[in-house]
Amino acid sequence: MRDKISVLYTEERIAQRVAELGEEITKAFEGREICVLGLMKGSLVFMSDLIRKIPLDLTVHLVRVTSHREQAKGSVHTEIVYSTAVPLADRDVLLVDDIVDTGITLSYLLAHIHEHGPRSLKVCTLIDKPEARKIDIHPDWTAFPVHEPLADQFMVGYGLDWMERFRGLPYIGTIPRPARTGQPQE
Ligand code: IMP
Ligand code: MG
Repeated sequence: MRDKISVLYTEERIAQRVAELGEEITKAFEGREICVLGLMKGSLVFMSDLIRKIPLDLTVHLVRVTSHREQAKGSVHTEIVYSTAVPLADRDVLLVDDIVDTGITLSYLLAHIHEHGPRSLKVCTLIDKPEARKIDIHPDWTAFPVHEPLADQFMVGYGLDWMERFRGLPYIGTIPRPARTGQPQE
């Protein structure tokens, strides 16, 4: 499978985008302390690079969500399965996501975070596939917006997985889209 991966964004291109986003986010939160909440596991690599480009006071937290897609019913069941203790009330929260695809995971998570009464809530995603959206939701910052027909490709590397593999690749690549298995997606 590794030999079927085509490089989409090189390590250098990613580093450049992460530095640009770090600068924009730093300006947006100037003078405030950020509570950075990373969505496991896909955003771990992105988040660890991004926080080193944000020279502000910040704390780091993690949350993990699983989505079970039931193809027969066409429904998606999303649930939070892990979270570090996060004091979200009255905090300026930056949620770091890997891929916003249908938007189902993100909208579920945003609703959950809002219940805790943050002062502000912003979203930064590594990849945005806006044409795949089932829920109208827009990240505040996107490293790489990906449009059709490229959005049909399955992306791996730099934290993104295919069946838990390829998270450690230093670049983002694409593989021919695997069949949706109905298995839990992490
Ligand atoms: P959605 O926005 O709820 O449909 O789901 C987004 C999640 O699906 C992401 O957090 C990824 O875990 C997964 N995902 C969607 N597209 C891809 C892809 O191209 N590569 C790897 N994971 C993907
Ligand atoms: Mg995943």
